[in-house]
Amino acid sequence: MTYTASVVGGSGFTGGELLRLLDGHPEFEVVQATSRSYERKTVGHQHPNLRGMDLRFSSPEDLESVDALFAATPHGVSMERIDDFSDAADTVVDLSADFRLDTEEQYDEWYDGHACPEYLEKSEYALPELNRENLPGADLVASGGCNATATLLGLKPLFDAGVLAGDEQVVVDVKVGSSEGGAGGGAASSHPERSGIVRPYAPTSHRHEAEIEQFLGLSVSFTVHAVDMVRGASATCHVFPDSPVEKKDMWGAYRDSYGDEPFMRTVAGGGGVYRYPEPKAVAGTNYGEVGFEIDPKNRRLVVFSAIDNMMKGSAGQAVHAANVALGIEETAGLEFQGLHPVGAP
Ligand SMILES: NC(=O)c1ccc[n+]([C@@H]2O[C@H](COP(=O)([O-])OP(=O)(O)OC[C@H]3O[C@@H](n4cnc5c(N)ncnc54)[C@H](OP(=O)(O)O)[C@@H]3O)[C@@H](O)[C@H]2O)c1
Repeated sequence: MTYTASVVGGSGFTGGELLRLLDGHPEFEVVQATSRSYERKTVGHQHPNLRGMDLRFSSPEDLESVDALFAATPHGVSMERIDDFSDAADTVVDLSADFRLDTEEQYDEWYDGHACPEYLEKSEYALPELNRENLPGADLVASGGCNATATLLGLKPLFDAGVLAGDEQVVVDVKVGSSEGGAGGGAASSHPERSGIVRPYAPTSHRHEAEIEQFLGLSVSFTVHAVDMVRGASATCHVFPDSPVEKKDMWGAYRDSYGDEPFMRTVAGGGGVYRYPEPKAVAGTNYGEVGFEIDPKNRRLVVFSAIDNMMKGSAGQAVHAANVALGIEETAGLEFQGLHPVGAP
């Protein structure tokens, strides 16, 4: 069966990744990509890797009727236009933060409120490793934040295995690439300003803490650094369990949580250069890597997690969730590996 799809915000970074994925997907046909700035230009004009695609940007005001609408627009757009999106499509998959949290109060606390709180209880968080059972048949799917996704994927097995109960101290340090800021990332993302940096850009109170808290029931001490890469999010989680943990139990925990997951890989030690998760190893793919090391002297467990922010952290996660929501083979269109060797992602 073929499902028609549109991408609102198709000229942006995650919009481009959605178009790349959907164009190569065996069961989607892209019928519309919108951009106000590049209306009537080919999608290849903005995304040179997609020059072979026979599609031109159109206005987001004239939405085609489709089976699935992917919204890759800045925070606030989807909540204003959700009625239009829902009229145009049976399934709406939103990549912004507009429908990730459960309650209006959370949006008051972490964002600037919410324009249509009545939709919040209808939306499902997209990350299948967390929320697969709620996705089939969902009308509104909210793709997770990339920093939150990296953190949640790293820590979830510890909750599943009872290593963490929710009252322990957890310190999370995330390093992210410049594409996280989108195509209009501004001065902080311009090449001369960004080159060579390791810059704390959200030392405290990052909004993604809300998603992490919502799913794990754990308040994490969360800091994000902007680093000199284009793609990738790498989370290092310093965990202080109440009782000592052993390596074999940790392997068991990660195997139990992710052994059957099609897009998760556990990488913890071993030989060679790539001994722990690194964004470079998953760049351009929907794979996520997790790993750990135990520091008995300090009663510390260090958990590493790496994703491509524009794939597992947004567009890949969104297509994965759409597959599950629509009853398509879960891995369809996403099973390709990355490149190696490759330059900075
Ligand atoms: N970049 C990441 O790594 C990442 C990861 C996870 C989640 N996200 C989320 O995904 C969303 C898109 O991010 P991005 O990085 O792709 O942003 P981006 O590169 O800045 O692209 C934004 C897109 O939205 C369109 N747009 C802007 N205002 C609009 C409006 N009022 N109505 C309709 N279209 C509008 C833009 O095109 P025109 O202005 O030409 O219409 C552009 O195509 C954001 O909410 C972001 O937080 C991003």
